[in-house]
Amino acid sequence: MSSATSPLVAFGQKHVTKGLGRLTEAVMTKGEGSYVSFEDGRRMLDFSCGIGVVNLGHCHPKVSKAAADQCMNLVHSQCSIAFHGPYLHLIERLLPVMPHPSLDSFFFWSSGSEAIEASLKMARTITGRQNIISMQGGYHGRTFGAMAVTKSKTVYSEGFAPLMPGVFSTPFPYWHQYGVPPATNEDELVQKSLYQLELVLKQQTAPSDTAAILIEPVIGEGGYVPAPAAYLKGLREICDQHGILLIIDEVQTGYGRTGKFFNIEYSGVRPDILVIAKGLANGLPLSGVISRQELTDKLKPGSMGGTYAGNAVSCAAAVAVADVFKEEKVLDNVQARSQELFDSLTSLQQSADVSSAIVDVRGQGLMVAVEFASPLYSANDPALNPSVPKNMASRVAKRCMEKGLLILTTSIYEVIRFIPPLNISQADLAKGCGIFADAVREVLREG
Ligand SMILES: Cc1ncc(COP(=O)(O)O)c(C=O)c1O
Repeated sequence: MSSATSPLVAFGQKHVTKGLGRLTEAVMTKGEGSYVSFEDGRRMLDFSCGIGVVNLGHCHPKVSKAAADQCMNLVHSQCSIAFHGPYLHLIERLLPVMPHPSLDSFFFWSSGSEAIEASLKMARTITGRQNIISMQGGYHGRTFGAMAVTKSKTVYSEGFAPLMPGVFSTPFPYWHQYGVPPATNEDELVQKSLYQLELVLKQQTAPSDTAAILIEPVIGEGGYVPAPAAYLKGLREICDQHGILLIIDEVQTGYGRTGKFFNIEYSGVRPDILVIAKGLANGLPLSGVISRQELTDKLKPGSMGGTYAGNAVSCAAAVAVADVFKEEKVLDNVQARSQELFDSLTSLQQSADVSSAIVDVRGQGLMVAVEFASPLYSANDPALNPSVPKNMASRVAKRCMEKGLLILTTSIYEVIRFIPPLNISQADLAKGCGIFADAVREVLREG
């Protein structure tokens, strides 16, 4: 039965809100390691991981078992009623891997957006200031506060005004944000971006009114661009100078995705507030806000919380995830596979029949992107190459799916993102890279 004729798909199309976008009109029925299966019989290698969530592969046996066992013991206790064991055991696991020893005060939520909301509330009440600076190109979620600080695509806020006030944005150090060529020197981008931030603090929001600067260390929905260490260090200095809190959003980059537990470790910068989610519980809903006790002691009891925040089953799964990371040396696999992924993509970029179409291969660990040179929407686009077919990224992603590889685009630019499971085998990674290269060549030949 093809998806087009499936009664279940037709039912979903009729009764599921149009407000949700979908990559494919199909019903996913099973996930197993690096593969997913659909009702229509298709089986695909999954380089999407549910958008960077099932980082240990689908239904990792140890994680699923831990969740199932917890289900038979205590499903829900509610964080405002009592502690529960998995919550505290998770903190025990996370404390030693925090990117800075000052990060010692934890609060778990369910989604990334909720954790972002909590971090914004914390920054405002702790500093007594209102304004937040986020990055142009940044993504932090779709709830009201998170939507207000999200600046990656207008679709997330269009028609939903008035947004939360007190939000200002500054360009992320990505060449697209300045309309300069892809080969622009990183130091120049850092200098431009720190200068722009200084202007924001002089022209838009005074430091004494500014509670926090919020940044993803690798911008995700904005194009999978790592922030240079010098930029993150510059932010830290500006924050220290003015008593502004630095909120690091590691919802997507965190927990091994970029080859270290937290991406911010690459720069050595200390976050005031760290926000995590996605891979934390390998698919069970769980997010966290971590700060230092000196700051969180300023919060009034009851000002934070939520019915499902830090659910016991999710926390038990997250404890198992932490154990699997150690037992299966997951970070070593990320480093090894990352090198192979970069080798494969740069060799594709360098091959004569493809080189004019790919302007950038970038990322860290297994959070990697390929940007195509096809025209965007503007003649001012520095990556414009009229000879390259339009809509390359979505066409390549579609062709990959036809060939059995589930892969996603990202950003308003022509970008494909690679987010395979962190424990993917060498053979499956090579298989996915082969499918991707074939798809790129086919789309280019079709024109
Ligand atoms: C960096 C970042 N922050 C926040 C969010 C929002 O998380 P959620 O979708 O769980 O609300 C996301 C989701 O993709 C994200 O990538």
